[in-house]
Formats: sequence, C-alpha cells, structure tokens
Amino acid sequence: MKPVLYLVGCATPAVLEIADPIKQAQGRGWDVCLILTPTAGLWLESELEDLAALTGHPVRMRYKLPGQPDVLPPPDAVLVAPASFNTINKWASGHADTLALGLITEGIGKRLPLVALPYLNSAQAAHSAFSRSVDQLRADGVRVLLGDADDHFPHVIGGPRKPFPWSLALDALNNTLRS
Ligand SMILES: Cc1cc2nc3c(=O)[nH]c(=O)nc-3n(C[C@H](O)[C@H](O)[C@H](O)COP(=O)(O)O)c2cc1C
Repeated sequence: MKPVLYLVGCATPAVLEIADPIKQAQGRGWDVCLILTPTAGLWLESELEDLAALTGHPVRMRYKLPGQPDVLPPPDAVLVAPASFNTINKWASGHADTLALGLITEGIGKRLPLVALPYLNSAQAAHSAFSRSVDQLRADGVRVLLGDADDHFPHVIGGPRKPFPWSLALDALNNTLRS
C-alpha cells in the first residue's frame, strides 16, 4: 500500500498548476488525494474531472453530510500548498469552516506530519497576523516553509513571479516523515 498524501490547495495563483506537484508526489510513491478550499475549487472548476482522474480519487472541497461515507483513505501526511494568508491565519487560530481547515486543524491534534508552503504577496506577509500564525503553527508542530533559517526559497512575493518550489515542499515532507 502506498502512503497517502493529502494535498490541500488554497486560492492563490500557484494552485492553477496543482497537477504538477500531484505528478511529482506520485513519482515519489505517494497516493495523492486532492483537497481544495471552496474558492480554489471555483478557480479550478473546469479541471476538476481531470484532477480526479489524475489522482484516482474525487477532489474534495466541502464537508460531507452527516451519515455520508468517507470517500478518501485516511492520510499519512498532509501538504498545504499553496497555503493562502487566509487559510494560514484561520488554521493557526483554530477555525474549521471549510473541509480543508477541518482536516488540517484536526491534523494537528492527530499529530500527522504537516508541511505548509505559503504563497503570499508582500502586503499580506507584512500583516502582523501572518508572523503570529506562522509562530503558532510551528509551535503546533507544522513545518512552515519560508525563506528562513532552513534556507528555503522565500515564497513571499511582491515583485516578478518566481516559480513555486513544489519540490522543496515534497522534500520537506519526506524529511518530516523520516524524523
Ligand atoms: C487573482 C487573485 C490572486 C490572489 N493571490 C493571492 C495570493 O497570492 N496569496 C493569498 O494568500 N491570497 C491571494 N488571493 C486572495 C485569496 O484568493 C482570498 O483570500 C481567498 O479568500 C482565500 O481563500 P482560501 O484560503 O479559502 O483558499 C488572491 C485573489 C485573487 C482574486
């Protein structure tokens, strides 16, 4: 059985290329399940069938109704990428009003390996809530990738668009699983 990766995508421009990291993760041996925030789901509406075919699982965006069965296998690890300003702040303060937030807030309680790769503009990154949220998530055991002491690529954008470093997130996930 392959380990199951929940890839949680938020509504930032990098989510439009989500098929690439799915293929990269599959190449590294993961069974990938895609979860999108409702807004990210709208942005990718025309690709949802193709993404479901690529992963072999339904793309989930909303909570099931009470009594409905789970349609995804349970996760071995979770990668939140691209992680939006909105979802990072709500995750850190414990909101669960989207399926994505429900899964990742519970993921902290379940001590699942959790990696987040934010994609923000510089104005969002300058808001004090962001650094507070990153500190809180790290204290809760989430590996948040920024251009920090880990010497990861800085994802905070403001100038020309740089490629989103999906492979760094997948490397971090493997390292988190090993440690
Ligand atoms: C064209 C466009 C680009 C955006 N880029 C970003 C971004 O880079 N980072 C970010 O955090 N939010 C960005 N946003 C705002 C988010 O889409 C918005 O905060 C949304 O509520 C996030 O919802 P989610 O966290 O549930 O996915 C962008 C919005 C639009 C319309």
